[in-house]
Amino acid sequence: MAALEHTQELPRHVAIIMDGNGRWAQLRGKFRVSGHKAGVKSVRAAVSFAHRLNLNALTLFAFSSENWRRPEDEVSALMSLFIAVLGSEVKKLHRNNIRLKVIGEHGGFSAHLQRKIADAEALTANNTGLTLNIAANYGGRWDIVQASRRVAEQVAAGKLLPDDITEDTLNELMSMSDLSPVDLLIRTGGEQRISNFLLWQLAYAELHFTDVLWPDFDDNAFSEAIAAFVSRERRFGCTGEQIRALLEKNED
Ligand code: IPE
Ligand code: IPE
Ligand code: MG
Repeated sequence: MAALEHTQELPRHVAIIMDGNGRWAQLRGKFRVSGHKAGVKSVRAAVSFAHRLNLNALTLFAFSSENWRRPEDEVSALMSLFIAVLGSEVKKLHRNNIRLKVIGEHGGFSAHLQRKIADAEALTANNTGLTLNIAANYGGRWDIVQASRRVAEQVAAGKLLPDDITEDTLNELMSMSDLSPVDLLIRTGGEQRISNFLLWQLAYAELHFTDVLWPDFDDNAFSEAIAAFVSRERRFGCTGEQIRALLEKNED
């Protein structure tokens, strides 16, 4: 177990595509929205897990730029849930020294939600613990486009020559450029695709797909994903049980 004492062997930044809420509800003969509500509990658990494991950053895909295509009542239920959860959770995040950021195109949201987001970000801006990124109205292609647009503005203003554009130039303008790179991407719900989540930022991430539906994603499932990362990365077979033991040790 000595190897696990060194936290650099754990991922520092984990991103999750939280998928499978609708199917979770349908399996129980309920409306899709009740799956989203059940998913909030898993969000709380995942944030708590990341906090206890001392991760630098946790990035959760909550609503994609393509999710506007869903039925109107589902979209508006998701927006209401987002507003309610922001309101009820932000103080707790702040108490736990967690910095909240919402990545994505804020302009797509109602003025009310935009204000809630700005207030939550401002309250927690100076916290030094876990950074929690909620990707909402986010798309990986949108992120690359918004960064490119800002590079073009610098070129148009004569501040930058096209030949001087490097990967670093663009990287600095992408969402989450201030954070360590994503080490591990987890997708729940069984699909094995990126669905226009982080494209640039996943260049070197390990990918972990699990059939567990998001409302069922708990500490055990998160531990398994971390264990898979650790064994893939360092080539020593570490089990979910060992990660859980490490978690308990950090709690002491
Ligand atoms: C993911 O669950 C949550 C959001 C996209 C907001 P889904 O709603 O996509 O659930 P499935 O994939 O239909 O089961
Ligand atoms: C990806 O899930 C988006 C989020 C989890 C927020 P989707 O369910 O929208 O993705 P697709 O449609 O299966 O690709
Ligand atoms: Mg889905």
